[in-house]
Amino acid sequence: MAVKNLTPRRSHAWFGATGRSGMAHRSWMRNQGFGPDVFDGRPVIGIATTWSELAPCNAHLHRVAEAVKRGVWQMGAFPLEFPALATGETLMRPTAMFYRNLLAMESEELIRSNPLDGVVLLSGCDKTTPGLLMGAASVDIPAIMVTGGPMLNGKYKGQDVGSGTHVWKFEEDLKTGVMTEADLTYAEGCMSRSNGHCMTMGTASTMACMAEALGMQLPGSATWPAVDARRYETAERAGKRIVELVNEDLRPSQIMTRAAFENAIRTNAAIGGSTNAIIHLLAIAGRLGVELELNDFDELARPIPTLVDLMPSGRFLMEDFCYAGGLPVVHKELADAGFLHTEQITVTGQSIGANVADAECWNSEVIRTFTEPYQDAGTGTAILHGNLAPNGAVIKQSAATPELLQHTGRALVFDSPEEYHAVCDDPDMDVDPSDVLVIRYAGPKGYPGMPEVSNVPIPTKLLKAGVTDMVRICDGRMSGTGYGTVVLHVAPEAALGGPLALVRTGDTVTLDVAARSIMMNVSDEEIERRRAAWKPKDPEYTSGYAWLYVEHVLQAPQGADFDFLQGSRGHKVPRESH
Ligand code: FES
Ligand code: MG
Repeated sequence: MAVKNLTPRRSHAWFGATGRSGMAHRSWMRNQGFGPDVFDGRPVIGIATTWSELAPCNAHLHRVAEAVKRGVWQMGAFPLEFPALATGETLMRPTAMFYRNLLAMESEELIRSNPLDGVVLLSGCDKTTPGLLMGAASVDIPAIMVTGGPMLNGKYKGQDVGSGTHVWKFEEDLKTGVMTEADLTYAEGCMSRSNGHCMTMGTASTMACMAEALGMQLPGSATWPAVDARRYETAERAGKRIVELVNEDLRPSQIMTRAAFENAIRTNAAIGGSTNAIIHLLAIAGRLGVELELNDFDELARPIPTLVDLMPSGRFLMEDFCYAGGLPVVHKELADAGFLHTEQITVTGQSIGANVADAECWNSEVIRTFTEPYQDAGTGTAILHGNLAPNGAVIKQSAATPELLQHTGRALVFDSPEEYHAVCDDPDMDVDPSDVLVIRYAGPKGYPGMPEVSNVPIPTKLLKAGVTDMVRICDGRMSGTGYGTVVLHVAPEAALGGPLALVRTGDTVTLDVAARSIMMNVSDEEIERRRAAWKPKDPEYTSGYAWLYVEHVLQAPQGADFDFLQGSRGHKVPRESH
């Protein structure tokens, strides 16, 4: 049934205009073959796609967009697809994270500057989901997200292999002689065998779940494989639903409230999700003026056990999660345990509690229960403080070695990941399994872009001796598919003269996760002496985007957004262009 609403919409300022201006807005659009009917006041729906062949995880989004368009047309509205920066994780250097804010800025401006009444956000690869949500939040017109879905499970020589997670494993297997280069080439095709994003519970799957937990995508959307027909059916439904959202005038700011973020944080704990979600959720909240801080991620997550047994923390992959019932089952479990704000409104127009009331679990090995969880409450992501990280740091306990969660060792300090990589294969490297590897100047300003370099490989000499994990500390991030006892997101970062810049090889460092503490065992007086002698590096960039980035990027506890992009700038129709 067609939905029409005669109230002048945003788009009416363009397409409903009279005289020269209206003609200019309409006539050029008709060069695409649209008849005059599409300008009759019906809602105009933008479809922001992060499609690109350079972002392989998003390479099928043009087909998803076609499904969305079907839904929009069925409702009598007018869909228009437009590209937004495809921040592909695997190719972009220095890191896709360096461009997340650019995508957010670009999508915000594209939505505002065009005749759009509502927008469907098509994302997939890690940074595309938060980037589009940040942009849409800052414009605050009705919006709905459709993530592109995970790849099918990787299958290598009879076993399931997970995106990213098995890259780290294969790298170790190559170093220890378990695999050959030829094995690796064969495995590449086995790991990525369909369209879609990483099918581990890495950052892309995590952020797809976060979008669903925040209420911004339809229930069940996060898990349909990219090639499953129901992904396209869901996209079509989203196309229909966005038109209703426009008519209901239900906006991101009403959906992504503090309660929705609390739901997302608890969901992330229950799914064993990526540490990157912390940074992205803080950045999205910052766009909406929702008070959220790093410690919330510890306090809210602490009573939540890990329910989902997925790599990198567990055994299964996204296809298994989907067939087990997907995220609605997790939400129902959280709701029944009293840990979901069930009344929070979502893009369905219903509450999240109502959305998942009938969810059923089809495989209790993949999705466990509160009473028999996969991992106990309190073993998820923890927030640390101490004289090494006065403004906080993050550790994913479920991806760490339990024996290392309380550990004192000698610091071995490297001023860049490259400096470490230059020596880590040396058979004579002066390193002991109890050492703590410090990798620094990898923060938002330092690298720049805060790349996923924190889980540096174990020195080859130790790997060959059977050492599988060591404590590592870094002001960068770790891939959501990664694992190890790695202290991440240390703030302030070394490039700002944070204490991480002052630790020296030979100092001892103590990690005590139970006490939520990360300390260098150096006296305050000595730290002050070192601080007085510390000099920042000469600025590397004096122009271009990199200059803008380094000048304006905030620290990890503020979501590494740009200072000038925090907050919402609304959807007021800009002045006429001609
Ligand atoms: Fe794109 Fe993992 S590389 S989702
Ligand atoms: Mg990643």
